[in-house]
Amino acid sequence: MDLLIRGGQVIDPATNFEGMADILISESKIKSISQKIPPPKNATILDAGGLYVFPGLVDLHCHLRDPGDPEEETIASGTRSAALGGFTSIACMANTDPVIDSPALVKYVKSKSQIEGAINVFPIGAVTKGLKGEELTEMGRMIGEGAVGFSDDGKPVVSAEVFRRALEYARQFDVPVISHAEDLELSAGGSMNESFKSTILGLKGIPHQAEEIMVMRDIMLARAFGKVHITHVSTARSVDLVRKAKAEGVAITCDTCPHYFTLTEEEVEGYNTYAKVNPPLRGEKDLEAIIAGLKDGTIDAISTDHAPHRAEEKNIEFGYAASGMVGFETALALVLTELVEPGSLTLKKAVEKMTLNPARILNVKKGVIKAGWDADVIIVDPKAEWTVDINRFASRSKNSPYHGWKLKGRVLYAIVGGKIVVKDGQLAV
Ligand code: DOR
Repeated sequence: MDLLIRGGQVIDPATNFEGMADILISESKIKSISQKIPPPKNATILDAGGLYVFPGLVDLHCHLRDPGDPEEETIASGTRSAALGGFTSIACMANTDPVIDSPALVKYVKSKSQIEGAINVFPIGAVTKGLKGEELTEMGRMIGEGAVGFSDDGKPVVSAEVFRRALEYARQFDVPVISHAEDLELSAGGSMNESFKSTILGLKGIPHQAEEIMVMRDIMLARAFGKVHITHVSTARSVDLVRKAKAEGVAITCDTCPHYFTLTEEEVEGYNTYAKVNPPLRGEKDLEAIIAGLKDGTIDAISTDHAPHRAEEKNIEFGYAASGMVGFETALALVLTELVEPGSLTLKKAVEKMTLNPARILNVKKGVIKAGWDADVIIVDPKAEWTVDINRFASRSKNSPYHGWKLKGRVLYAIVGGKIVVKDGQLAV
């Protein structure tokens, strides 16, 4: 069946296109894009006048909790939550139970996604068996089953020697190694940013250095042994370190998440466990530096770190609460409302950091609106104002600090491989 998206404001950073255009989708592929396409017979027509048309968003870092915790999320619920947020491709982390550290488990996630998923799922395999930081996984065979990258996310790979071997190994397959940068001794026992605020609240802090020391180490290793991608960057100095490393030609990329450019440690006030995340929310200067890093290209991508948690893991004492927040359904609107609208980032740059750049980092053929490419496209109403209501999330978990926020920008359609999965802002699958 043919699908014609007519008269939308198309933004495609890959082809550097920004303007009114029609897009014709035939079967699962984009057939053509041009100013005026006569509707083929029997084509479904979507009128996108006054709306944005972007490549489907690509999230290089999320948690789907399958296998292990279907109460928190499943591939069915997580991919639907992602689709509502405009994501058509997501890469899910390996810190499940059991850990995704074998070809069989990669195959499990991949095939389950094909059966019950609403969008494309790209598994990230663990760097080390059981996330123990000791023995490397069988990367080659895991790639054979569909792994697109490797990470022990949730934890760092503590041993520089093991991490070095991982970089050398991954380099042979041209897949990214994604670093959760945290010095576990410096962060031990901490539950929020270490600052005046943590002292006032009587909570043990996590100093900036816990992240920055690992970022420095990773830069040193990337300089010599292979590419590193640093995920969820949260501090000003981390941004600075990556900026300098890039200027020196080190093969390093990084991402941040919406909570690091929209929230600060102030959010923890009242012991709000929905604001507990790892790395922790930082100070105002860090937030500003993150925005500057997005602006000047130091930060390549925006990921969600969608981290669903059960109510009983959050409705407890701050120090004991689980870290993480759900992010799929608020990410794009936060970017549009908090970065694009105030002029901190151009719309094209914002789209690039949520489509083309994460796709390039993962080395997957996504994030481009061009004839012959997969028909993964979203239609967004930039003027739609809405109030975040966690009870309406498609995610099984509700742990979001954005409940009650008024945001602008809503995904009306999500098309995945030519199939409409979100229609008029509602799930169609
Ligand atoms: O806040 C976080 N939650 N950070 C991580 O690195 C892991 C994640 C999770 O799995 O819940």
